Amino acid sequence: MRVGVVGGCGHVGLPLGIALANAGAETVAIDTNQSSVDSVNAGQIPFMERDGASHLAKALSSRKFRATTDPAVLKECDAVVLVIGTPVDEHSNPDPDAVIRVLSSFEPHLRSGQLLVLRSTVFPGVTSRIEKWVAEHELAIEVSFCPERIAEGHAFEELTSLPQLIGTRSDAAWERSRELFSLLTSNTVRLLPEEAELVKLFTNSWRYLKFAAANQFYMMANDLGVDFDRVHAAMTKDYPRAADVPRAGLAAGPCLLKDTMQLDSLTGGSFLLGQSAMKVNESMPDYLVRAARQTFPLSEMTVGILGMAFKADIDDPRDSLSYKLRKLLRFEAKNVLASDPYVEDSRLIDQAELLRESDLIFIGAPHTAYRELTFVQPVIDIWGLLHVK
Ligand SMILES: NC(=O)c1ccc[n+]([C@@H]2O[C@H](COP(=O)([O-])OP(=O)(O)OC[C@H]3O[C@@H](n4cnc5c(N)ncnc54)[C@H](O)[C@@H]3O)[C@@H](O)[C@H]2O)c1
Repeated sequence: MRVGVVGGCGHVGLPLGIALANAGAETVAIDTNQSSVDSVNAGQIPFMERDGASHLAKALSSRKFRATTDPAVLKECDAVVLVIGTPVDEHSNPDPDAVIRVLSSFEPHLRSGQLLVLRSTVFPGVTSRIEKWVAEHELAIEVSFCPERIAEGHAFEELTSLPQLIGTRSDAAWERSRELFSLLTSNTVRLLPEEAELVKLFTNSWRYLKFAAANQFYMMANDLGVDFDRVHAAMTKDYPRAADVPRAGLAAGPCLLKDTMQLDSLTGGSFLLGQSAMKVNESMPDYLVRAARQTFPLSEMTVGILGMAFKADIDDPRDSLSYKLRKLLRFEAKNVLASDPYVEDSRLIDQAELLRESDLIFIGAPHTAYRELTFVQPVIDIWGLLHVK
């Protein structure tokens, strides 16, 4: 099987393309980002992904995988997987035409007989629009929506361990999508496109709501002078009904908030639980600064933020709330320093210098390596990272 992955050098597209190639499909990643394409072809994965370098090396040496900016290669492909970014627009609304615009730009390179797999997270109804677009352009192309569900940093374990959802109306698309994903797993689930679209959004939203509940509990406990980590440990210890209560933290990144916004938009602004979750999660940096102000003379202090990625052990700062925290602290503190061992950003400083210069430290991202540090100054650790041994 020859597979073309459009958006194939991104956080989702690249692991998928590499995994398909290593499972035997001749795979080409098509991406507009020339520097990512060059880096992938040179054997360098452009972001942190566990075991990514060895999987990429294997795929390149088998000659089953390569990256290109040239969409003309799509003509040769039996299956086209579309996995471009689908952010909300400048007014926080989903853009239902984003995927169609990209597809239209590839029209000369598509042909009848192909399977088109939508892998980006989409607004409900987008798959149906694409089916119509395909029919209007008189292309006999089978369409399925198979959302990506990996957690960044864990793609290579999860691509083969999670069930693959296949949302389609057509038996032929089901068979062909199942054949494609059977390269990764035999665990596939057939759904209608609209069902699969909702599964993806509900799952991300559910996770975001749970983080909001934990964050609200954290604020309540903290305001009472109670240690939330001790409360959380007791709630979850040998008590299965509360085992899934998350720890508190800065719930951020390019997916959870965006997908909760998509559902709010779908309901015409009446997704009240989602709205509350957005308020709670997005207000955590403000809460942390207000709480710190009550205990510390921030205006006389150099404050350091350790960790600028949006979550632990990755290098991705997209939509990280550590940056919002940094902005707020700059209004309050004498000086604000930030560091991250993985994120590339010229505004960040060396970790040793931050530890030396800071009077107070916030843990911005709970990188595992921070557990080994010794601090001589107070630390505000919403994640409970330093409690977990
Ligand atoms: N990041 C995650 O952990 C994750 C998990 C599950 C689902 N998703 C969803 O997957 C989709 C992709 O997310 P991502 O994090 O991989 O985004 P990304 O920005 O890392 O990757 C998108 C890639 O598409 C490329 N691209 C953009 N326009 C293109 C075009 N016209 N032609 C070819 N390439 C193009 C970009 O250069 C980039 O490399 C989104 O819908 C996201 O919501 C992401």
